[in-house]
Amino acid sequence: MKSAVGDDFPIIGKINLTDGIKGGLHLEEAIKVATLLDKGGLDALVCSGGTSPYNPMIYFRGESLGTGLAEQQKNPLARFLLKIASNRLFKNYPYYENYFLEDAKKVRDSVNCQMIYIGGCTELDSLEEVMREGFDFVQLARPLIKDPAYVNNAIASLNSGKNYVNGCIHCNRCASLIEAPGGVYCPLNEGGGQ
Ligand SMILES: Cc1cc2nc3c(=O)[nH]c(=O)nc-3n(C[C@H](O)[C@H](O)[C@H](O)COP(=O)(O)O)c2cc1C
Ligand code: SF4
Repeated sequence: MKSAVGDDFPIIGKINLTDGIKGGLHLEEAIKVATLLDKGGLDALVCSGGTSPYNPMIYFRGESLGTGLAEQQKNPLARFLLKIASNRLFKNYPYYENYFLEDAKKVRDSVNCQMIYIGGCTELDSLEEVMREGFDFVQLARPLIKDPAYVNNAIASLNSGKNYVNGCIHCNRCASLIEAPGGVYCPLNEGGGQ
């Protein structure tokens, strides 16, 4: 890939810290994979977890995806059944800020390439913690869906010495809209966020 795109084009990889399923990849193997990619010349690495079909809650945390999916069902029976099945379909992983950080640090300590952190970074304090821990970039999904001006708001807050909390409550309703005709948005925002 490097010889095809040239040295001035960054190649970024994304791997799992854990697949969260029996027989899947776990942290020790993730570190080995990261080391090999690093030796192969990867420019930067993002570490996530889980898989969409088998264990998405590892990378979302917080409220079950089933809640938002059930709310979208027009048929009351389908809504009821989905609510009941939700606990079996989606495992419960409590949300806390920077939930991938401890494991991602173990990968960071094993590679020389740049590290991009992702996972539950909805406050200025969390962004700063990631930077302090030696990561080079932060990737954001839900925090930017909730608050597209997050970066500017966090910078303004930095200048005033206050923590900025961006308001995403990890309800995961945006994520349950991935297949919806209207696309992804934050229903908690004024006007539905669309
Ligand atoms: C609407 C939506 C779509 C996503 N699509 C993908 C995807 O295609 N591939 C992927 O690896 N992760 C995807 N993710 C997961 C994010 O990359 C990320 O791991 C997760 O949302 C945690 O980061 P956050 O706390 O910044 O949202 C998606 C997340 C959201 C909310
Ligand atoms: S719907 Fe809004 S508040 Fe809920 S997780 Fe998505 S961005 Fe955050």
